[in-house]
Amino acid sequence: MNTRSHGTPENVARHDRWSLFVTGGSGYLGHEVTRVFRERGYAYEAPGRRDGIDLLKPFELEDVVAAMFARCDKPPLLIHLAAWSRQSDCDREPENAFRANAESTGALATVVARFGGRMVYTSTDLVFDGAEAPYDEDAEANPISVYGRSKLFGERYVRTHAHDLIIRIPLLYGPSFDGLRGASDPLLTGAREGRELRLFDDEWRTPLDVRDAAIRIVDLALSDAVHVRHVAGKERLSRYELGLRILREAGLDARDSGFRVTRTRRGDLSGSPRPEDCSLVSMY
Ligand SMILES: NC(=O)c1ccc[n+]([C@@H]2O[C@H](COP(=O)([O-])OP(=O)(O)OC[C@H]3O[C@@H](n4cnc5c(N)ncnc54)[C@H](OP(=O)(O)O)[C@@H]3O)[C@@H](O)[C@H]2O)c1
Repeated sequence: MNTRSHGTPENVARHDRWSLFVTGGSGYLGHEVTRVFRERGYAYEAPGRRDGIDLLKPFELEDVVAAMFARCDKPPLLIHLAAWSRQSDCDREPENAFRANAESTGALATVVARFGGRMVYTSTDLVFDGAEAPYDEDAEANPISVYGRSKLFGERYVRTHAHDLIIRIPLLYGPSFDGLRGASDPLLTGAREGRELRLFDDEWRTPLDVRDAAIRIVDLALSDAVHVRHVAGKERLSRYELGLRILREAGLDARDSGFRVTRTRRGDLSGSPRPEDCSLVSMY
């Protein structure tokens, strides 16, 4: 049906319970989640914009996705990764951020439920205000950014369906397919180009490698887990500490590459306020 479906060759098998779907398969995390499915030999479909998936048109989305599900012999398991994920985009166009991250999530959850399926929605540690870390799964969400609010509204649509699962993930790092995404690639590019690297030393997270995140998301998606789960790294790190570690592990040294690391403060940046500490407590 589309160039991103992966279901016909002999070396792939249909899951015994679900028809597997992934939105956002062309994104940073989506590349890794679909890779995990391929490694495990599962057939899946990863529809994108070319298949009519447009997060800015939630009402049309329902019909597009319903037509895909109607062709399947098993109920859908939809891992919904597609989102407006850039905070600056959300700040600039808050209405579209809510349309993409909240209303479209609601539309998808409704269709999935109509077909007797299960939806897994990736949310974010930025649903918390950063004042009372670390946050477990029962902690009260209180986002302070447009992005965080739009993702929390998405969660609320998913929570109304008993079979669905919300997975909150932290800042992700590790290589990206286009060299432009995640916490590490832009930093490494900046270092190699000899730029000044400004890193917050007053913002903490529990960062996670994107590949590890994908494996845990697939495992949880295929389990019976429902409600909310946190999937995060074990270590609480400031953005400054994380940045130094990424540079060190890549073998980059300021003396050789000519870059300069500057400690900076969250308040130095314009846009939505940034939470101080969104560390997650995670069993996964
Ligand atoms: N990366 C992180 O550190 C992080 C942290 C916490 C939570 N998350 C969550 O994890 C999920 C995946 O994030 P990511 O880092 O993989 O994001 P990403 O690299 O920006 O990918 C976003 C995906 O959403 C799709 N998309 C965006 N706007 C769309 C639209 N209007 N219509 C249809 N598709 C659209 C993109 O499709 P195109 O390729 O066609 O643009 C892409 O596949 C998101 O739900 C995000 O909120 C990410």
